[in-house]
Amino acid sequence: MISDLLQAAENFGTPLYVYDFDAIKRRLAALRSLFHPQINLYYAVKANSNLHLLANMKPLVDGLDVSSGGEIRQALLAGYRGTDLSFAGPGKTAGEIVLALQNDCASLSVESNDDLTRIIRACRTIGKKANISLRINPQTQVKEFAVKMGGMASPFGVDEEDAAEMIDVIRENEECLNFLGFHIYAGTQCLNMVGLTQNIDNVLQTVEKICRQKDLASTRINFGGGLGIPYFKSDTDFDLKEFSRFVNQAVVQFESRMSQSVDFILELGRYLVGPFGYYLSQVLVLKESRGRKFVILDGGMHQNLPPSGNFGQVISKNYDIQNISKPAAVKEKVDIVGCLCTTLDRLANRIEIGSPEVGDILVIKNSGAYGLTASPIFFLGHETPREVLIKDRKAKVIRESKDITQFN
Ligand SMILES: Cc1ncc(COP(=O)(O)O)c(C=O)c1O
Repeated sequence: MISDLLQAAENFGTPLYVYDFDAIKRRLAALRSLFHPQINLYYAVKANSNLHLLANMKPLVDGLDVSSGGEIRQALLAGYRGTDLSFAGPGKTAGEIVLALQNDCASLSVESNDDLTRIIRACRTIGKKANISLRINPQTQVKEFAVKMGGMASPFGVDEEDAAEMIDVIRENEECLNFLGFHIYAGTQCLNMVGLTQNIDNVLQTVEKICRQKDLASTRINFGGGLGIPYFKSDTDFDLKEFSRFVNQAVVQFESRMSQSVDFILELGRYLVGPFGYYLSQVLVLKESRGRKFVILDGGMHQNLPPSGNFGQVISKNYDIQNISKPAAVKEKVDIVGCLCTTLDRLANRIEIGSPEVGDILVIKNSGAYGLTASPIFFLGHETPREVLIKDRKAKVIRESKDITQFN
């Protein structure tokens, strides 16, 4: 891969994102071969919404998790149908709901009373029924999720304690709502088997409890996922085979207990694309200041926010960064910063990399998810980086660099 990355930097310049689609394809094939056929694999567009990436993934996934009108439009442009989309988000506007309904969205996640009221109103206005899932904020928390979105007070989903009441409102509005089931996305970035399997158990137990209490059938259960990726050298990956065995058994047992057939969904973002995206940046300046050596790059947190620790990480640690121009050079301890005039733009502290020189290309690994998509691209007005996709071992530009003036 290092030679492909160096070649891409030479051909397309830096800063640059390179996505290895061949590896993404292999990961999806591995998931397919391991999981029960009733487990649908959805891709969470928020992780990386590049149009060509989405279009290339189309034959390999069962659907997409989208969370805005923009993501819906991008998905449609990439060749997906509304029936491939699951729309979640705590603050959907009336316009976004209408867009989802007009395109026969497979499922809208209901996340609050107001959200439900707005969905019902949109259905009445345009005379269409909405396919809905009730998103639940469960009572039990998965402690092993590095990013927690449920199991406490949360803007995401309806508190489990209030689910019965919401079901009553849904039943009262059956003429415009087609209730499918439940969505529980309670957190993510979990590498721990206990946490991952507890999440599956929590979801199924919560759904079973509500279904029995309300004499309800759920034909769609979205587990979220929470599958983490090893960002840091100290991280150990989880065993996908062991996890899939657990999930397969749990879903079969659930269906037999509830005597019904269910479409299960895993909606994965970072696990599908994170490890297969590389951010390449060139050393612009080397400078010493009071005993520390600073490597100043032509990229930075405006293009790749997470390595700077400003994307909600609990503990900020150094990402895996390498000097691919000097893989065999003696290692040196340096601070790596971006080119922005802000203290936030620190990409690594006291990291050991091959002794850098001006012009060397550094790679930040694990940049495929929440890289460009989650970055403040307008901050300080630099050009956006080019993006390149490697498919069938051939590299192709899939989005050009843009100057801030092109967004006016
Ligand atoms: C509802 C929902 N689904 C899926 C995802 C994707 O999560 P990840 O990229 O960790 O797999 C997120 C991330 O925040 C989310 O909020």
